Amino acid sequence: MIAPETSSSAVEPSRQRVCIVGISGKLGQYLAAHALERGYEVVGVCRPQSVAKLEHFGDRITVIPGDTSDRTVIERAVAGCAAVLTVLAPWGVREYSSRTAQAVMDFAPTGARLIFSCGWHVRASAADHYSRRFLATVAVASWLAKAVRAVDIADQTRAAERIFASDTRWTLVRGSDLEEGESEGLPVWSSAVGSPILESNLTRRTDFALFMVEAITNDALIHQAPAIVGCRSESAVAHASTARA
Ligand SMILES: NC(=O)c1ccc[n+]([C@@H]2O[C@H](COP(=O)([O-])OP(=O)(O)OC[C@H]3O[C@@H](n4cnc5c(N)ncnc54)[C@H](OP(=O)(O)O)[C@@H]3O)[C@@H](O)[C@H]2O)c1
Repeated sequence: MIAPETSSSAVEPSRQRVCIVGISGKLGQYLAAHALERGYEVVGVCRPQSVAKLEHFGDRITVIPGDTSDRTVIERAVAGCAAVLTVLAPWGVREYSSRTAQAVMDFAPTGARLIFSCGWHVRASAADHYSRRFLATVAVASWLAKAVRAVDIADQTRAAERIFASDTRWTLVRGSDLEEGESEGLPVWSSAVGSPILESNLTRRTDFALFMVEAITNDALIHQAPAIVGCRSESAVAHASTARA
């Protein structure tokens, strides 16, 4: 259902409203499915040309078409939300990620849970350790992507810095490489990239979304930047005794 421009949709008092910013992408659609399964009322923001990708959800979600970096769109979408799940995507070279994150933090209701996605490449503390190969790959990919003005990975890092500095109830979930497939269960995580438990570097995309939705009610993740990996991956199984879920 596309939201009318002016009226706000009626909220059943018993259902908490969750906004998904970037709902039409692969991760966004998994977020919507998990949130609906848990009984949340779902409002989503996506680019106007992507609204059709959400038709299969029918009237179970409300869609607000617009760029996720458009502050007026975000202000409208997050109103009344108990949580906002944001797919941080560093598209283009016009600060798409950092403007999206800032708008969410500026307009989400006080006390709302704010959960953002990014990749391991975002450094959260001095405890993160990266291999030379990883750093070289990120550097080359970042340079190439920016050179063709497609993606600005550094802007996702700037978005993360703004999130870390904010006094909102944020969690920044840092994803490993992703694959499609049936859910394996809630990923395990470490606060430090480079931890042995993360070595397999692979998570099912649906489980990345599951982790973000579960984080809504997990206060232990507030002001954390968990780096996640699939719970059935080799490294997670090998280090099961140190796993955090
Ligand atoms: N892919 C990976 O291996 C990987 C690994 C680790 C972490 N992550 C993180 O996971 C999140 C999403 O990753 P994903 O691979 O699953 O992608 P995704 O869900 O498909 O998300 C991409 C998002 O970007 C939007 N988008 C695409 N082209 C755009 C453009 N030109 N301008 C503005 N928005 C555009 C998409 O919206 P439309 O539907 O409108 O196109 C969608 O909301 C990101 O935070 C990423 O950093 C990904």
